[in-house]
Amino acid sequence: MSNREREHTVLQSRHEVERRFHDEKAVSHHHHHGHGSNGHNFYAKGGMDPVWDAYLRSIGELDGMTILDFGCGEGWSTVAYCKRGAKVYCFDISPESLRNLVHDAEAAGVAGRIYPAVMAAEDLGYPSKIFDLVLGVSILHHTDVSCAGREIARVLKPGGRALFIEPLAHNIFLRIFRWLTPHRRTLTEQPMTDRQITDFIRAFRSGEYRGYQFLSIFSQGLFWLTGNEWLLRKTLHVTDRLDRWILSAFPFLRRYCWAAIIEVRN
Ligand SMILES: C[S@@+](CC[C@H](N)C(=O)[O-])C[C@H]1O[C@@H](n2cnc3c(N)ncnc32)[C@H](O)[C@@H]1O
Repeated sequence: MSNREREHTVLQSRHEVERRFHDEKAVSHHHHHGHGSNGHNFYAKGGMDPVWDAYLRSIGELDGMTILDFGCGEGWSTVAYCKRGAKVYCFDISPESLRNLVHDAEAAGVAGRIYPAVMAAEDLGYPSKIFDLVLGVSILHHTDVSCAGREIARVLKPGGRALFIEPLAHNIFLRIFRWLTPHRRTLTEQPMTDRQITDFIRAFRSGEYRGYQFLSIFSQGLFWLTGNEWLLRKTLHVTDRLDRWILSAFPFLRRYCWAAIIEVRN
């Protein structure tokens, strides 16, 4: 087997693992809970809101833009972008996730401006230079990052931007948490290292990343242990302010954060 064939086989089995895991998750959401609304889920309780708010601020106006929701999953972000006036192409490797997305888009009355496709991040079926913006939440770290980077650079218009929220690999407390909760994720997903992000950025004309949720991981941890939403809100309010101060005074600490916002330009 040649190197190329071997790489292809590795990528295919990785896709298979991801598809199965996320299909099962999407089917159970659809039948049991409504999407992502389980009790101790800090995403659903607003634990990631400071990062999402910063992300939306960096994205800016979406009205009239043609954008790509990269690895859209069940599409809560797809619907949000659409409501802000964008025409949204989106794809995911999991057909069941897309089924939930279409269902929700119809319910929200925005299905006419969404173009979903089952596709792999490393091999996009779109023509070159067609998107103003490529946006992705928690997705690059599931993919072969260098292949995905080449594809993003290809489909972006000249002057276009891509922004991603991704988890980071270097914080010791997060490493322990991930080690304690392996069922939460696939083996094919690995939080991103500082090195990986720097390499990713090189595929573009320019780019940088910022860190979020440094001390805030303790609010999240407390919520994970107690399920107390009031405590989450109160402590997050304080840790979020401290984080902003600490990270602007000591930018090198960004790699020890939970989340990164990566922004690149073509
Ligand atoms: C953590 S979820 C995030 C989904 C969505 N962006 C969100 O914020 O809810 C990761 C998603 O990546 C998809 N995925 C994993 N590997 C992929 C690949 N190589 N190409 C396309 N989608 C992929 C999974 O099916 C899953 O929906």
